Amino acid sequence: MMISKELNDAINLQIGAEFGASLQYVAIATHFDGEGLKKMAELFYKQAEEEKEHAMKLVKYLVDTGGDVRIPAVAAPKAVFESAEEAVKLSLDWEMEVTRQINALYDIARGKNDYAGQNFLDWFVEEQVEEVSSMDNLLKVVRRVGEKNIIMMEAYLSHGD
Ligand code: FEO
Repeated sequence: MMISKELNDAINLQIGAEFGASLQYVAIATHFDGEGLKKMAELFYKQAEEEKEHAMKLVKYLVDTGGDVRIPAVAAPKAVFESAEEAVKLSLDWEMEVTRQINALYDIARGKNDYAGQNFLDWFVEEQVEEVSSMDNLLKVVRRVGEKNIIMMEAYLSHGD
């Protein structure tokens, strides 16, 4: 077994956090779907898929390093949102929290002189910069557009197609 027990345990918790994020983004996507905001929904369905991929990357790493995979219970996601801003703000807060969690995993790997672990986690460190930045940008635009004109988000998001 190449991986330390401490990092193994922490990665198991992170697998739960990533699956939790995936569920939360599905819940947010369905909220937007219900509001007729198809592009916003699409963005969050896609995000949900990415979170599942993050979880699976962690699962594979444990398998590759001879660790134990113990997927924890995942709490039900928040399902009701008063506004687009609330849903996007929750997502940004979540991504900031995940960044802290990834940094904590990194600290464990560094403390154990686990170079393979640090090398593996580099991908997540970079990914979090991207995820926080794009969610932060989305929140800024949602705030500028305002709830009354939130349908404008559909046109805004269509520009990327
Ligand atoms: Fe897996 Fe959005 O962090």
